[in-house]
Amino acid sequence: MCTLTRKLLIAGNWKLNNTIVQSAELVKDLLKINCETHKIDIVVAPTFTAIKVVNDLLSKSSIKVAAQNAHWEENGAFTGEVSPQMVKEVGGQWVIIGHSERRQFFGEVEETVNKKVAACIKSDLKVILCIGESLEERQSGNTFDVLDRQLLGGLVGLDDNDMASIVIAYEPIWAIGTGNTASSEQAEEVHCYIREKLIGMYNQSVADLTRILYGGSVKPNNAGELLSKPNVDGALVGGASLLASDFCKIIDAALESIN
Ligand code: PGA
Repeated sequence: MCTLTRKLLIAGNWKLNNTIVQSAELVKDLLKINCETHKIDIVVAPTFTAIKVVNDLLSKSSIKVAAQNAHWEENGAFTGEVSPQMVKEVGGQWVIIGHSERRQFFGEVEETVNKKVAACIKSDLKVILCIGESLEERQSGNTFDVLDRQLLGGLVGLDDNDMASIVIAYEPIWAIGTGNTASSEQAEEVHCYIREKLIGMYNQSVADLTRILYGGSVKPNNAGELLSKPNVDGALVGGASLLASDFCKIIDAALESIN
């Protein structure tokens, strides 16, 4: 079970960074370095306002565009929200849902995360569902309880077919933006746990096919080691995705890990 190969996915989460002009520059830099490849999936997630420009610039590229969030309703009195259909309208094919920063600062809980995942799937968007424990939760021995809750809660009502459009990102909160990455052994242990959990929730085939990314201070100098683990199927990259050369080095590390 632990040795099956899945197509790696490297996703760059730009968070609240880059104006439209800066986003366009970053994409042009990525295209100039020419790090795209059909051997792995590559996704970038700009702010909502830059999605269209980024998508237009990537129209001939295999790099796909993600939104960093989407609401579960298609329209209505939900001031400040953007729907999955609106993400699609500007060219987004992926959405990051349940990022720890959204849980921490914007009150997202399992129920809202689940509604968002379901709405995105219904709109034919692919989802990167983020889960992960805080330092306190890890130190108190609650890592797996937290992951159970977030995984079960985030996937309520989603069936085997839906799972084909879902990627799980394990992002320990203590590793995000801190420079303290999880060791490759820690990541592999948790990824194996998540995969076992998916067997129980679904079946062996869903567990085998679902990609599980690692996120949290992934950099050019640690990507190779993390991606060498059989159950680390890619990376969700924050800070290092803001510099084209670093992001491309991480893509190179992913390519090396499959060669
Ligand atoms: P980081 O962010 O790579 O800057 O730690 C990862 C993330 O939040 O997705």
